[in-house]
Amino acid sequence: MTLVNWDALAESFDIHDPSQAQASAADNKLIAWPEILGMLEAFNSTPGQDPITNILDFGCGTGSFAAELTRRKYQVVGIDPAVEMIKKARQLYKDPHFIHSDAVNLLPSMCFDAVVSIMVFQFIADPNQTFKYLARHVRDGGILIIAVHSPEYVRASLAKGHRFQESENTAHPTLWIEFANRIRIEVFLRDLTSYTRDLAAEGFSLLQVATPPFTEDYINLYGRGSLEPLETPKFLIMAFQKVRV
Ligand SMILES: C[S@@+](CC[C@H](N)C(=O)[O-])C[C@H]1O[C@@H](n2cnc3c(N)ncnc32)[C@H](O)[C@@H]1O
Repeated sequence: MTLVNWDALAESFDIHDPSQAQASAADNKLIAWPEILGMLEAFNSTPGQDPITNILDFGCGTGSFAAELTRRKYQVVGIDPAVEMIKKARQLYKDPHFIHSDAVNLLPSMCFDAVVSIMVFQFIADPNQTFKYLARHVRDGGILIIAVHSPEYVRASLAKGHRFQESENTAHPTLWIEFANRIRIEVFLRDLTSYTRDLAAEGFSLLQVATPPFTEDYINLYGRGSLEPLETPKFLIMAFQKVRV
């Protein structure tokens, strides 16, 4: 599978150095990553939990988070259905194992202590099939961490005219976000209740939720003078645990 829009964005998604990256990619590194890394560490220091050693980065893009995880001594596989994203990831980073694929085509034998997915699920129209496939690849007691745009942030951005737009057609309402080079990608808003309900059907229970505020670093680099609603947390980060059977 090749995703044309995402392929065209591969160059602008290198967030090696946030000061060189677009705000739309560097926000992950400056705001979401610390929270997610903290969730993994907290899980690993909780008595009674089997430690997380291997992680799947689902929708890894150009691989920067997967590479950060390998720096922290996790064994990491990154997968992404956009061929250009995976090409760029392989050019940039030697260590994580990068696969051009979607969850559907992963080997059934691949089983992970954790799956992390950053800014992917809001772009999937119907995530239930994907949840079902991913559930097969998380061990019992393992975790799934999903970070998406928070619905409140998207609504506040729409109100301010910041990067999100909605079609006027009430019969077929469509919401999209604009990235570099005026590339528009459709967005599907879901809240915590909806993720919790749909993942419960695949055997996951909610462990932790975070909505980290904008950091000073981000505001200093990208916030000043922008229309971005800096008072509304951008990320909804949810950790689910696969119930032991
Ligand atoms: C906003 S980027 C985020 C990339 C990376 N996780 C990051 O944080 O930099 C969204 C990624 O999701 C991938 N993607 C889109 N649809 C997908 C799907 N159905 N399954 C898995 N990945 C998908 C895209 O190819 C793209 O690399």
